[in-house]
Amino acid sequence: MSDAFPSIGVLISGRGSNLQALIDATRDGTLRASIRVVVSNRAGAAGLAKAEAAGIETVVLPNRSVPTRDAYDAALVELLRERGVRLVCLAGFMRLLGTPFCAAFAGAALNVHPSLLPAFPGIDAQSQALAYGVKVAGATVHLVTPDLDAGPIVAQGTVPVLETDSAETLSARVLAVEHRIYPPAVQRVLNGGWTVVGRRVRFP
Ligand code: GRF
Repeated sequence: MSDAFPSIGVLISGRGSNLQALIDATRDGTLRASIRVVVSNRAGAAGLAKAEAAGIETVVLPNRSVPTRDAYDAALVELLRERGVRLVCLAGFMRLLGTPFCAAFAGAALNVHPSLLPAFPGIDAQSQALAYGVKVAGATVHLVTPDLDAGPIVAQGTVPVLETDSAETLSARVLAVEHRIYPPAVQRVLNGGWTVVGRRVRFP
């Protein structure tokens, strides 16, 4: 990890396994970025300990710490800007971000979602996929826009749905895909030179 690398900020609410995948990628050199800060909206998020173990600054910004949704967005933008964050990575951040955040980090915020979007946005995506009966599931990395799980797609990866799958076993297989596709997607976005044409992210 080097300070010469672009700074990224990671937003979490829970376990932080995608955060760990990003940390690991910065360590093994496959992600040439410096994770400058990890922000959680939940004080008890297990991912905070993962950040601390990696020597990364952590900030808890509880949902009710500011009076309005816009004020929350503004506080988040300010703390990320203060730290020179160039790209924001949502990793299990269970809070909707509105226009103030999305405008400030337009084209500079990514999310990872455990389904093949546009199928199954929102919560319990893997259960939604099982209930629908799809035979292929997967994960999506997309640009963050004010519409939930609807931003232009940067990367996707697939897994088969097995006859024996439960929500838990399918989630574990999808999570492994998330860990595999998220760090290179972040690197690709950081590399620049891409454009969004309609809904399509076109890489050089
Ligand atoms: C992941 O499945 C992610 O796609 C979803 O929330 C989960 C977070 O897991 N948005 P973790 O905290 O990264 O382990």
